[in-house]
Amino acid sequence: MQVDVITLFPEVVTVPLGASMIGRAQDRGLLTLRVHDLRDQGIGKHRQVDDQPFGGGPGMVLKPEPIFAALDPLRTSKSRVLLLTPQGRPFHQRDAERLSREEHLIFLCGHYEGVDQRIVESCVDEELSIGDYVLTNGAIAAAVVIDAVVRLLPGVLGDDESAIQESFGASGLLDHPHYTRPAEWREMKVPEILLSGDHAKIIAWRAEQARERTRQNRPDLL
Ligand code: ADE
Repeated sequence: MQVDVITLFPEVVTVPLGASMIGRAQDRGLLTLRVHDLRDQGIGKHRQVDDQPFGGGPGMVLKPEPIFAALDPLRTSKSRVLLLTPQGRPFHQRDAERLSREEHLIFLCGHYEGVDQRIVESCVDEELSIGDYVLTNGAIAAAVVIDAVVRLLPGVLGDDESAIQESFGASGLLDHPHYTRPAEWREMKVPEILLSGDHAKIIAWRAEQARERTRQNRPDLL
């Protein structure tokens, strides 16, 4: 998969995505990540990328010309352009699955009060939010979305890790609790059933735990 990111803060994307599994996916050619500094397209000697909002109000708005100059050369008929913004549609696991089937994603990272609406209307395929809170910087949100998408590409996760995809996957529930050795730690014992070797009972226990956790933490999923 090819991923391009346009941001004022390239390192916010390159550093986290250079580590661990996504870093390895890049080394193995499963992901080609290119991060473009929007400042390179800034206007004039100060490389201006933002300006005050028409109509007044606080903050600055990203100007359309630098964004278009960065974006236009990257676009082909196979690209999908995503804008990260708290005003976007909520990003869910099913969006990660859908986007993992695309060939080329271009992420535009909002900043300050946002981007000029004419860019949204003329260039953006979808606006995504990673949650109901405001970050300083859409690049953090882009790194989150890219991680969630790329880990679904065939070959990125080993078999062991692939099971993790079950959370939010087929069942639509939160995952059940996990335990490992030692069987007793600080007088807390691992539930007996997990040591029983009775596979059918373990499956039933885990399913019940998943339902109970979901009821407590995320009743909206039920
Ligand atoms: N930029 C700032 N906050 C954001 C959020 N919650 N999701 C996506 N982009 C953002």
